[in-house]
Amino acid sequence: MDFNSNADYAIAARGVRKTYGGNGKSPAKEALKGVDIFVKRGTIFGLLGPNGAGKSTFINILAGLVRKSAGEVSVWGFDIDRNPRQARAALGIVPQEINMEVFFTPLEGMEIQAGLYGVPKSQRRSMEILTALGLEDKANAYVRMLSGGMKRRLLVAKAMVHSPPILILDEPTAGVDIELRKQLWEYVLKLHEQGVTIVLTTHYLEEAQELCKEIAIINHGEVVACEPTEKLISSLDRKMLMVTPNENVSVKPDLGDFDVDLKDDGSLAISYQPSKSQVADILARLNSAGVSVKDITTVEADLEDVFLELTYHNKG
Ligand SMILES: Nc1ncnc2c1ncn2[C@@H]1O[C@H](COP(=O)(O)OP(=O)(O)OP(=O)(O)O)[C@@H](O)[C@H]1O
Ligand SMILES: [Mg+2]
Repeated sequence: MDFNSNADYAIAARGVRKTYGGNGKSPAKEALKGVDIFVKRGTIFGLLGPNGAGKSTFINILAGLVRKSAGEVSVWGFDIDRNPRQARAALGIVPQEINMEVFFTPLEGMEIQAGLYGVPKSQRRSMEILTALGLEDKANAYVRMLSGGMKRRLLVAKAMVHSPPILILDEPTAGVDIELRKQLWEYVLKLHEQGVTIVLTTHYLEEAQELCKEIAIINHGEVVACEPTEKLISSLDRKMLMVTPNENVSVKPDLGDFDVDLKDDGSLAISYQPSKSQVADILARLNSAGVSVKDITTVEADLEDVFLELTYHNKG
């Protein structure tokens, strides 16, 4: 018996499958193969995976843009099949594809969107949201005159007009320069501090590692990991010992089971599994190989290592 009801989660997805129908030219594609994803309320959740993994398919199912083939999904406690309107009202979605009404100014677009969601005039915050995203001086410009990065920020602004408890961003920083990316994340973090649950996909692993409290990695339509970020990174049983020898080493020393890499600057990079060996074992090996050690540092695995391990090595 599961004691957590769906209402405890921002998003609860069980056994979600999606098969896109084929046509004459392309065969049917199983984009999601039974995905379980649970997003806690108030968290920042990262959905990562290589191109074609199924991330946008999952997000578009939440948004009601793609119909799942099987499984159950609830958003803020509302089943997307039984209560689609309430489920959709709980979400603000920034889609991966920029697809925008260009005949209105950003401010007009915000007001129209607010109208669609039934936000009363007195509760609208269009200008406030545009300002938070650095678009105040473009509020009355033509949308077609905005740059790509500005359009993307406008999409974020539009997603927030009805103050949804969940904001979902599909590749929000693709094509956005570093300065504006920082601004975008500052806004997202501010929303997070106000209690908004954030779900994002990104190809910038560093960004995900820094921002996300929990991460799911999806590969070929399957969830291959779903854990708090720290735990995910520490689950990778690999570290690197960087050794600076006292005298230049010209050939790679033989350290038995340990993998050694001789760097251009003369240092040695030795990878090891902390669960199986200790730094002392490596130092003993170096000693027997006649390498005298001047300095050592260890390098922890990061999200990129975990990601590569889970996606490229497990082609499934
Ligand atoms: N409308 C569609 N019709 C048929 N196949 C589709 C459709 N949309 C996506 N697919 C296929 O489903 C798979 C998953 O695509 P999806 O867009 O969900 O991946 P993604 O993880 O978002 O990738 P990316 O990182 O490139 O955005 C891919 O093989 C894709 O070609
Ligand atoms: Mg995508």
